[in-house]
Parts: sequence; structure tokens; C-alpha cells
Amino acid sequence: MKIITPTSITLAAAVAIVANANNTALSDGLLRIPLSRSESTQSKPDSTQLWYHTLRKYGLYRTKGDMESQAVAKLPLVDYYGLVDIGTPPQTLRLQFDTGSSRFVISTTECPLCSGTSPFNQALSSTYRPGIEPWNIRYGDGSFAKGFIAEDKVTLGPISVQNQKLNMVISESANFDDTVDGVLGLSFGAISGSTTLFENMLEQKLVDQGIFSFYFGKQSHNSGGEVIFGGVDMDRVAPGSEITYTNVTEATHWNIDVQDFLMNGRSFARDKKATPIRSIVDTGTTLIVGPEDWVSWYHNQIARSRRYRRTWVVPCNGRSTLSVVIEGMEFTVPYEDLAREYIGFGWCFSSVQTSSADYVILGDIFLKNNYVVFDQAGQRVGFAPLKAEVEEMTIYASDTEDENAASVRVQEEL
Ligand SMILES: *[C@@H]1O[C@H](CO)[C@@H](O)[C@H](O)[C@H]1NC(C)=O
Repeated sequence: MKIITPTSITLAAAVAIVANANNTALSDGLLRIPLSRSESTQSKPDSTQLWYHTLRKYGLYRTKGDMESQAVAKLPLVDYYGLVDIGTPPQTLRLQFDTGSSRFVISTTECPLCSGTSPFNQALSSTYRPGIEPWNIRYGDGSFAKGFIAEDKVTLGPISVQNQKLNMVISESANFDDTVDGVLGLSFGAISGSTTLFENMLEQKLVDQGIFSFYFGKQSHNSGGEVIFGGVDMDRVAPGSEITYTNVTEATHWNIDVQDFLMNGRSFARDKKATPIRSIVDTGTTLIVGPEDWVSWYHNQIARSRRYRRTWVVPCNGRSTLSVVIEGMEFTVPYEDLAREYIGFGWCFSSVQTSSADYVILGDIFLKNNYVVFDQAGQRVGFAPLKAEVEEMTIYASDTEDENAASVRVQEEL
């Protein structure tokens, strides 16, 4: 399957050739890449770290205290990753598929102390093309990654993308996550003046349709997900439902206008006379992160929710459902996904937290409850309710020692 290189080959043809050889591609013309849940070798990131990760990614800081707290959070904190082959012969890297950034960033063996489980070794690839253009990312707390931009072939199942620009990491600060080898950006390349992998797939005519779609398995069931390049899997969509599309408002991030947010029948747009609400659809963010006034309004609709230090906490058991209104359709998030890990006395960390931005970042909490279609060619995003799966009860598992310590703190402070 790795020998298919002509850039004019269509996905359908490629799939026909390798249909029996590779189960990531099916005969329906869709390139399916499984997404696995990330299991950190150390400890799993907690929700606070995931929140800080998003603030740092978007450069959103409120106070010096925030920045200091964020210094302990590792980047990138990843819930889901997929396997991607780079170079010839292929080297397999674990990458986060991130619609909230546009660069293709990979760990390399030139940086032995960098994060990653299987960094890329350019010396072993015959298709590698060196480059000298430098790049770097620096966050407000001083953490950074830097290196140079090179090119190589990137292979996903039966598809090989030629001349993909790669942001090679040769140096980074110590606070990067070891669970993945990099980030595969899927926003619009225009943000960083680069061409994303998917933009290259389109340019090289490797997919029939200029769309890709995400399915995330429920975190509470510890299941993986799937990204599909070149189409949509209607089998994931609730029977009788269609995909509702809304235009991207600015093709940098996946920016869309959300008409309203509903909680228990109350409308944010009506209460605050604010509409529409600019939102970014980001597979590389775990929580939902938004402006203070929106987050306060949201928690006012959940009985007994409150601020705890700089965070919001909510009762672990509740019935509220969040609805996101897009083009007149409601897309919901059930309470089991609105309350996160147990912190003591029936309180859980809230899935919705604040930022200094004037937009809402819709992360996996929202995306895993709805099928999402990114239409790159049409510059629009589609949403559909997911087909119901067999569900188990959600159990708020927690580490007993941490729970006791947290309980004492919560009791003192609430
Ligand atoms: C969305 O964009 C398309 C193409 O630019 C345009 O034809 C259509 O009218 C837009 N839809 C809305 C609701 O603005």
C-alpha cells in the first residue's frame, strides 16, 4: 500500500487497489483513521490542566497567577491521537488531530530530551527534504518549542501526501506532554502561512470531497474515535437526522456564529441580548471555554454551582442539558459530560470554564456528543446528532487519597 504515490490517483482508485490490504480505508471512498484515547505514562491530565492548556494555546491570560499555574501544565494535553506515517520507509508517529491549529509539528531525534514516544529520524527517510526556514512558538509563561521547517511524504492508510511541510522540533521547554509525538493542524493554513495536510490532500487531488469529519467516542466509556478524510459517515448520525451546516465566519480558525445557548429552557441570547456568539470548533480542546459573562450565565442555570478558587465547580449529579443553537437546530450536551472529575462532597469540576476572550471555544465535551463535519472547500461546518450508542451508567471514579485531600480543601473553602 505504501507504493501508491502518483498524485493524480483518486481515493476511490487507491481504495480499490488496497481494499484487502488495509482496513483503514473502506470501499465507500472514505479514508478512516482511528483515534485512540491517550494514556499518559505518568498521570492523566486533570481538567484544570486541560483548561490551562486551551488558555495557553490561544494566548488567553488574565492574571500573572494564571500564567504561573499554567507553567505546570504540559503541552499538548491530548485526549485522542491517531497514527500517521512519515517518510520513506514510513516511521509511525502518534499525532493529535487538531482543528484549532494549522502547523504540522513533530518531535525529532535531533532533540533527544524532547517529548514524544517515537520521534522522527530524518536520517532514515529517503524522501526527506531538508529546510532552513526557522519557526518557533512561544507562550506567555515562557514555554516554547522551536526548530526548522522541512518536507517529507506523509502517509495515511492508502494515501500519500507529497512534500508536506513539517515543523521539526529541535528544542523545547520541559513542559511538553510525553504522550504524543506532535500535532497535526487542521484549521486553515492561512493562520500560520502554511499549507495543512488536508489542504495538500485537496491540492494533490487525493480525496474526492473537500471535507473531513470527526467522531469521538464517549470519554466515560473510554472508547476511541475516528477522523474521516474525504467524506461523512452517515451511519454515525441519528436516524432521520440531517447535517446542519453553518458558514465559517472567518477562515483562520473554524470560526462560526452560534445563535444561542440554552440551559433548562433559558436563552443566553434573550437574557443577555447578545447574538450571535462567535465560537471556534476545536478538536484539540477538551472543555468548553468562554467569556466571563457567558460562563457566569451558564452556571447560574445550574443549581448550587459556584466558583471555587479561579474555577467553576458544579454538583456531580444534575439534570441540566446544554443546547448549542446553530442555524436554528439544537445540539445538546448531557449533564454527564458537563460535570467532570470528582473533587469532594458531591462537587465536580465544571466542563465549562472562563477565558479572557470574547468568543467560545467548543471542545471535545461538545464534539463527542455531536457528529462534526469540517467542509474545507465550502468553508462551513456541519453538525448532526449522534446515533445513540449502548450506554452505561457514568461513575465518577476518583483516586481516594486525592479525593480526601480535595474534600478537606473544598469543605474549608466553600
Ligand atoms: C454561505 O456561504 C455560501 C457561499 O459563500 C453562500 O452562497 C450562502 O448564502 C451562505 N449562507 C448563509 C446562510 O449566509
